Amino acid sequence: MKIAVLASEGAPYAKSGGLGDVMEALPAALARIPGNEVVLVLPYYKKIKDNAAYPVELVCEFETSLGWRKQYCGVMKLLGRTDGVQVYFVDNQYYFAGRTGAIYGDMDDGERYAYFSKACLDTLSAVGFIPDVIQCNDWQTALVPTYLKSVYRDVFPDTKIMYTIHNIEYQGWANASFFDDVLGLPWEWRSCLDMGGSVNMMKGAIESADLVTTVSETYARELMYPYYAHGLDGVLSDAAWKLTGITNGIDTNTFNPATDPALPAHFSASDFTAGKAACKAALQQEVGLPQEADTPLMVMVTRLAGHKGLDLLCYIARKLLWEEKCQLLILGTGEAQYEQFFKELAAEFPDRVAAKITFNLGLAARIYAGGDIYLMPSKSEPCGLSQMNAMRYGTVPVVHATGGLRDTVPPADEKGQGGLGFTFQSYNGDDFLASVKRCLNLYHNDREGFRALQYRDMTQDFSWNVPAGRYMDLFRQMCGQ
Ligand code: GLC
Repeated sequence: MKIAVLASEGAPYAKSGGLGDVMEALPAALARIPGNEVVLVLPYYKKIKDNAAYPVELVCEFETSLGWRKQYCGVMKLLGRTDGVQVYFVDNQYYFAGRTGAIYGDMDDGERYAYFSKACLDTLSAVGFIPDVIQCNDWQTALVPTYLKSVYRDVFPDTKIMYTIHNIEYQGWANASFFDDVLGLPWEWRSCLDMGGSVNMMKGAIESADLVTTVSETYARELMYPYYAHGLDGVLSDAAWKLTGITNGIDTNTFNPATDPALPAHFSASDFTAGKAACKAALQQEVGLPQEADTPLMVMVTRLAGHKGLDLLCYIARKLLWEEKCQLLILGTGEAQYEQFFKELAAEFPDRVAAKITFNLGLAARIYAGGDIYLMPSKSEPCGLSQMNAMRYGTVPVVHATGGLRDTVPPADEKGQGGLGFTFQSYNGDDFLASVKRCLNLYHNDREGFRALQYRDMTQDFSWNVPAGRYMDLFRQMCGQ
């Protein structure tokens, strides 16, 4: 099957979050399936252009029209990728390479990704790759289904399209004039993209894609409710017949405690006690916490954003630190109020709390390996990957039972049996605190039970093999095979 995967970010080239990880692993997993031909198209950001590790060749150049605009598009093919995925970068200096900052956050993001969505289709056509299936992701490529079904039908007469929602909070809103000014779509498509008089790119994708998926089964159900759907619950309820949840995997080659080059010591499920203890001691030293082997180290690697459940952690933090013997380590950047809170907490409890307000992938890996307990009280979580990374590295998760957290962390009982971590059902601080305490209790009073839980976590199959198979099933279903 010929499959084109389109996205605004993909590791290792450019990544801001979980979408980037998925776009590294999913195309590779699809390419491993015999008979598949997989193309991945990404924007040619400045940081990719400037990175000598990613040599490219110019395949072709043309102009992509966008309303009254005609914008340059250079198609760069990445050289040297050996896993069968053909990677093309869409080069446009004005939209992607002339910018210095982060991947997203420019005033004209709407226009940048409208351009990218259209340029992706032009790219596939220009390189002569007419796919059986296009898989596109989040608001940045949400215009692809609409363009495909309207102005590109002749170029891709039989191509089916799957739209995947990784995060419904960002929908690609623009004011009504965007429709004619930038999109240049035929007028009869206006209602497909219209939401309350504005343009909503994600709504257009949900309506025009052949199938819609999201990144866990529970999140697919949650999206029927206003609490989770950020205004799109009605649109998604109407599309429920074509909405499926496929829980993500993680790249178990990259995330492997036996080989991860970022770690000071290595370990595997069959023999992890000494290696993990060495990682913990080194981590405590690295972040300035006392090297106490028997004090449970609770860790969190996260964007410091409200929906990650930080309000709950702020609410319980002092009580937890007063009542329990434990250490707390946070890595991440984000909203000022949380950065401030954790800096102050670290100053108040210098021997107990460390806050690293930065983005550091190496340190993140050392935290997954050196921690004992991984906290993830997200208010909502489409899938979440870090709880799986943590489990793979033998760190026991304590999570809010929502979205992908509910699907990947079945609850263990007090003795640590019957599940993979500790969970709480309703989103409130006291229930979160109670679940953290259950986990600490197991650590302090039944270390063998805790180790057994760590072993179970480490031996789960979180690889992409199963989810990639489910994507294939849906691809075949779309193609009528
Ligand atoms: C988004 C979601 C996260 C998910 C990731 C990859 O970042 O917030 O839950 O794991 O996408 O699908």
